[in-house]
Amino acid sequence: MDNDGPLRPRSLAEYVGQKKLKEKLSVYLEAAKSRREALDHVLFYGPPGLGKTTLAHIIAFELGVGIRVTSGPAIEKPGDLAAILTNALEEGDVLFIDEIHRLGRVAEEHLYPAMEDFKIDIVLGQGPAARTIRLDLPRFTLVGATTRPGLITGPMRSRFGIIEHLEYYSDEELAEGVTRDTRLLGVGIDPAAALEIGRRARGTMRIAKRLLRRVRDYAEVAGEGEVTLARARYALDELGIDALGLDHRDRAIITALIGKFAGGPVGLDTLATAVSEDRATLEEVYEPYLIQRGFIQRTPRGRVATERAYLHLGYPYLPQPQQSLFSSAEE
Ligand code: ADE
Repeated sequence: MDNDGPLRPRSLAEYVGQKKLKEKLSVYLEAAKSRREALDHVLFYGPPGLGKTTLAHIIAFELGVGIRVTSGPAIEKPGDLAAILTNALEEGDVLFIDEIHRLGRVAEEHLYPAMEDFKIDIVLGQGPAARTIRLDLPRFTLVGATTRPGLITGPMRSRFGIIEHLEYYSDEELAEGVTRDTRLLGVGIDPAAALEIGRRARGTMRIAKRLLRRVRDYAEVAGEGEVTLARARYALDELGIDALGLDHRDRAIITALIGKFAGGPVGLDTLATAVSEDRATLEEVYEPYLIQRGFIQRTPRGRVATERAYLHLGYPYLPQPQQSLFSSAEE
């Protein structure tokens, strides 16, 4: 999924941003270590690319334990879960389940006793002769990550002792992440260039790191030993990332909303079809940032382009003479 393994910060101190979350986590980690207990189960939620997986690795590093990584879709049957829990985990280890909202329902039910009592029920045989045996598991810490907290069932959510949201990064925090990576890559960067990359990275650390790698390619090919502001701007323009960090997909979504649907309101499925995107990607990957930056609004009757969206893409903005966007369809 992400290929920033070597650049991934190992400790909480190296992790940039998410200040409140880091403060809280460091208390929980310290307390668990001093009690010599496994850390409570942790659920991280928030848009993709903000560092949920990285934090799971950091938790294991800080606790000095091992980590097993899997994902909701990879655990289809209860047997898949039993195999991981019984073979792969040692006392105190972290089990990281990415996209935990996509765990199958039956597997999820088997996870409950594992989370709560560190026991798992395994069914042997089939039909009337089947019997269940209950196995003891090492005490472990489940770290779950999801972009869709609304899809986590109540019983699942209630079994996490620590539930934390990851925020979008500020431009300055992204610049700090970029500068950290250039140091590790052994290249120099003008602070203004780092900030330019931060500004265009949609509040997302993974995107900032990816843009940096591409900008570095341009600088290297141009024979420059340091990433300058001019080179960063040139490369980002070439990549189709505009001054506010929107890429061509973002602009296609807004353009469709304005050009094909008169600025909305339009339903998510219709908009997704118009831009040949699947509904989930539109909703989970593109929309959160477009909403957060005030280009799109979600209303009860569908998505609506804001004045900012019109102006940014160079369309004249004529406020629509329709009823309030927030009134219900029956009114
Ligand atoms: N990689 C992913 N998230 C990060 C962060 N917050 N700081 C530094 N590197 C990261």
